[in-house]
Amino acid sequence: MTTPALGIQDITFATAHHRLDLDLLAQHLGIDPAKFSVGIGQEAMSLPAEDEDVVTMGATAAARILADNDVEGLRTLIFATESGIDQSKAAGVHVAALLGLPAQIRVLETKQACYSGAGALQLALGVVARHPEEKVLVIASDVARYDLDSPGEPTQGAAAVTFLVQADPALLEVEPASGVHTADVPDFWRPNHRVTALVEGKFSISAYMDALEGAWEDYRAHGGAAFEEIDAFCYHQPFTMMAVKAHQRLRRHVGASLPKAQVVEELAPTVGYNRVVGNSYTASVFLALLALLDGDADLTGQRIGIFSYGSGAVSEFFSVRVLPGYRAHLHRAEHAAQLAAREPVDVPRYRELHPGTAVSDAEQQANPRVTAGPYRFVGIEGGVRRYEATGA
Ligand code: HMG
Repeated sequence: MTTPALGIQDITFATAHHRLDLDLLAQHLGIDPAKFSVGIGQEAMSLPAEDEDVVTMGATAAARILADNDVEGLRTLIFATESGIDQSKAAGVHVAALLGLPAQIRVLETKQACYSGAGALQLALGVVARHPEEKVLVIASDVARYDLDSPGEPTQGAAAVTFLVQADPALLEVEPASGVHTADVPDFWRPNHRVTALVEGKFSISAYMDALEGAWEDYRAHGGAAFEEIDAFCYHQPFTMMAVKAHQRLRRHVGASLPKAQVVEELAPTVGYNRVVGNSYTASVFLALLALLDGDADLTGQRIGIFSYGSGAVSEFFSVRVLPGYRAHLHRAEHAAQLAAREPVDVPRYRELHPGTAVSDAEQQANPRVTAGPYRFVGIEGGVRRYEATGA
């Protein structure tokens, strides 16, 4: 019996209602806007409205997948996030209810900083390998928040990526080889009482690059393709210049160095979404993949190398093959429309929307109706979070 290919049938993203242009933030901070647009490679960030969170963004992206695919056999939903909304209940349980999924489904949440979306993909492949007739919905959804006036501030953002994992997929085959790397490093973390992350910025950059070398070597040791057999590379992008730094490092590591300008050009097809959305933690590496897939180039048959890094730190390098006919399954128009529809805010409004440092202990909260999306976070009643479909 031949083993069927396993991989991704469909993938899409949703983002938040508001947008802050980083030129405005630079002006407010009295610094050269080129530090953001050129230095870290960011133009804008997505910001959730008061009635949006990881659940509403995740449900929005997941609804598109459910509408466009046969989901017979869907029995697992994995919600990957590092900005979860409860210490006990998986955010995916709210999503399952909003989407009207049958009760015969297992739902769980994964966490390991920005890595847990890629980790969820590997877990999903394990389920499908054991039960090829089953499908798994993975939702990677995050709101990245740093303190106001901190160096991390321009790297905030918000988005959810959702994908359907199954046997005989239409879009991407995930190759079996994968390289993993874990090191206990204090580069970025978020204690339970904080909404905003704590970070050692410069150290986090070097921890990321050390992890890349470690995961790459493990990928090669486990039968992964040689560098020159990989047609394109997608990196976790906390800010898009991080991908450039990482790829320069990998190129140097394998003895294929190129000048920075050429590496910038090489990665250009992967940065378009992250540049305007900001860091979306677990979703970020998949936004890089989506930018590449949604681009004009025909990628049929190509191998894409993917590096996921989650501070703390766990990382993985793996590869996918783009399947014939993949373009019929893309959501380019929805992605473009969604980005264009974001309502711009000025700096005073952005600062008002910023939740501050401490986690709120509110047990009663009524959220204003703002989002134009199909699901909203209504508020908190007696400590219970309430969500609803908006009809949009
Ligand atoms: P900073 O200290 O404000 O920035 O923080 P800088 O002074 O280092 O400048 C940044 C770059 O802009 C430099 O380029 C400057 O030269 C350049 P580089 O030396 O890096 O090539 N620059 C300019 N360029 C053009 N025109 C100008 C100009 N001025 C300066 N006028 C930092 C930067 C990234 C550290 C900060 O934003 C931060 O702390 N961010 C959050 C942490 C982060 O994103 N770390 C990335 C690796 S860890 C990771 O990816 C995991 C994460 O996603 C979390 C998770 O896993 O859950 C964060």
